[in-house]
Amino acid sequence: MTRKHPGRFHIFIPGPTNIPERILNAMHISSEDQRNPEIPELTLPLYNDVKKVFKSETGQVFLFPGSGTGAWESAIINTMSPNEKVLIYRYGQFSHLWADMFERLGLDAQIIDREWGTGTPPEDIEKILKEDVNKEIKVVCVTQNETATGVTSHVEDVRAAIDAANHPALLFVDGVSSIASIDFKMEEWKVDCAISGSQKGFMLPSGMAIMCVSQKALEAHKSAKLKRCYYSWEDQIATNKDGYFPYTPQIPMLRALQESCNMLFEEGLENVFKRHHRIAEGVRKAVIEGWGLKLCAQDEYWHSDTVTAIVVPEDKDAKEVISTAFNKYHLSLGAGLTKVAGKVFRIGHLGDLNELQASAAINGAEMAMIDSGINVQPGSGVSAASEYWRKALDKDAKIQSIGNKEVA
Ligand SMILES: Cc1ncc(COP(=O)(O)O)c(C=O)c1O
Repeated sequence: MTRKHPGRFHIFIPGPTNIPERILNAMHISSEDQRNPEIPELTLPLYNDVKKVFKSETGQVFLFPGSGTGAWESAIINTMSPNEKVLIYRYGQFSHLWADMFERLGLDAQIIDREWGTGTPPEDIEKILKEDVNKEIKVVCVTQNETATGVTSHVEDVRAAIDAANHPALLFVDGVSSIASIDFKMEEWKVDCAISGSQKGFMLPSGMAIMCVSQKALEAHKSAKLKRCYYSWEDQIATNKDGYFPYTPQIPMLRALQESCNMLFEEGLENVFKRHHRIAEGVRKAVIEGWGLKLCAQDEYWHSDTVTAIVVPEDKDAKEVISTAFNKYHLSLGAGLTKVAGKVFRIGHLGDLNELQASAAINGAEMAMIDSGINVQPGSGVSAASEYWRKALDKDAKIQSIGNKEVA
């Protein structure tokens, strides 16, 4: 075997993300008896910590073996009955797949197509809900971060729209590529099912569906008639209350999740969000000011702090950039999916990373673009990003030290 990628391989897809050593170490344990009397010492505090990450006080956390897709399914089958109505906007591959799942599970999905590069429009939701005088729409969905296009939708604005329409619909939020990286306020925004996965902001391997549901969702669950088995909440509720599971849990992942929460709290959730914003702003400076290219996200309102989708010039192929980055520079970039395949490449900047790591992604993408015949100035991306980061890091450090003094 030849050693193909000496040195550190740079993974800059929007998940799976880097796994910190502390988390790798936490997983590196011998098998444990899942029914041993000490397991609740791990699980019961863990549920509370995960709730803190979701900023939920009254919700209930479920941890399923699976992934974000499993959490989508669990939310739907546990709260809905056949043919019930759901309102969902489709503006990227993941909102598309979620909408598709509603249809495949036998729901009446009102799917509204929006241009890729935009997100969920609160004003439209308010109008549609006001027109729904018989209150037939059971669920409104928001993909908080559309990973395919680097677009963040504003859940707080959607909540305001639902309230303005005085509508009782449940609010489901896909936070797979946002929760633990972009602020999420389950309680304040009255989110009913919040969905995530382990391999993005939580910095774990893939393999766990992480979700938090409201009391209102638990109430809806009591009359929901869709069939369910492995992803049912009732089996979890019956066993989780004592710290156990209805089937064999993935204990190393649970220990890793605890370490992930510890790391998030040690840094401070607000600092985690600020770091993601700062890194994302630097990447955007590289794209717009350095390279003179466009983002897929159409304006600032939609900018994502976890993934940047970059549009290559029309006569160039983003796939070539991605394969050159991988083969020549040991850098994984995210591909453009379906509608935007070949037109965009993505830099994922979420999880365990800092500015200098992000510099490597900008540098590698820049070299791969020049190799692919795209006219960008060597060094221009890193130069634009680093000028921003130098100042932004000082500014954030100053705010943090003032904050620390105030607390002291
Ligand atoms: C926004 C979003 N939703 C859902 C999913 C599906 O999650 P998973 O691949 O963990 O099943 C992804 C995956 O990248 C995603 O980015």
